[in-house]
Amino acid sequence: MATLLALQGVTHTFRRSGGALVTAVRDVSLEVGESETVALVGESGSGKSTLGRIALGLIRPDAGRVLIAGKNLHDMANRELRRERIAFQPIFQDATASLNPRRTVRDLLRQALRQRGADRNEHMRIELLESVGLRPGSLYLERYPHELSGGQRQRLAIARALAMKPRLIIADEPLSGADVSMRGQVLNLLLDIKKERGLAYLMITHDISIARAFADRVAVMKEGQIVEEGPAGVVLSKPREDYTKRLLAAVPQLAY
Ligand SMILES: Nc1ncnc2c1ncn2[C@@H]1O[C@H](COP(=O)(O)OP(=O)(O)OP(=O)(O)O)[C@@H](O)[C@H]1O
Ligand SMILES: [Mg+2]
Repeated sequence: MATLLALQGVTHTFRRSGGALVTAVRDVSLEVGESETVALVGESGSGKSTLGRIALGLIRPDAGRVLIAGKNLHDMANRELRRERIAFQPIFQDATASLNPRRTVRDLLRQALRQRGADRNEHMRIELLESVGLRPGSLYLERYPHELSGGQRQRLAIARALAMKPRLIIADEPLSGADVSMRGQVLNLLLDIKKERGLAYLMITHDISIARAFADRVAVMKEGQIVEEGPAGVVLSKPREDYTKRLLAAVPQLAY
């Protein structure tokens, strides 16, 4: 299996406004292969989002390397970087924050398709909306993000990510923003996309049941480090670390 994303010994320290230093990520190595889903789990504050932002190139680590398909992200010139980074698309918890409120759905999709030089016809936009379950797609094109429900907005954000034909989706708590009744639907949508398009995911979540439904491999973060990693079936049913056992015990086993 070809490696899409490789984080090698990455470390990142934040300086709090008071001056205190927080090492959010400490010497972490993690790989995601083609079509593979890796769930990154761990308690709040363990460094999951920071690691995700490092993988997306949004935070430059103080040490270590970020390789995209074997190339060092921080060695690339800007134009090459933009091109390569399109292969990795984020989905965040709060879709609202990632969608320009002054743009219609049509404009948002047009802009995304244009970034990878794709065809700009209306049919493609409608097809994208329908592929994330917004039917009929034509009904939504004129709307603004605030005119959609939370679940619909998350679908739009997913459609926008898909417009860029990513190879890896880095999703940070993608279900937490949707209300409970929508979560199962959004999760199923993400699962369908994985099956149909063979996409890889780095799925950041503190919800073990999502990791269970989704992941091939699970990495467990604690205080900025990965303390346990392996096939989902092993880590989630026979965890080695007490920390992982506590995480598993803390989660109500919801059926999504
Ligand atoms: N911009 C920042 N400035 C200062 N400290 C930060 C910043 N971002 C994160 N941190 C700190 O880094 C640590 C890791 O934060 P991070 O957001 O990566 O955790 P997380 O695992 O995603 O948590 P959650 O599950 O709550 O989303 C925390 O101690 C947090 O307070
Ligand atoms: Mg987070």
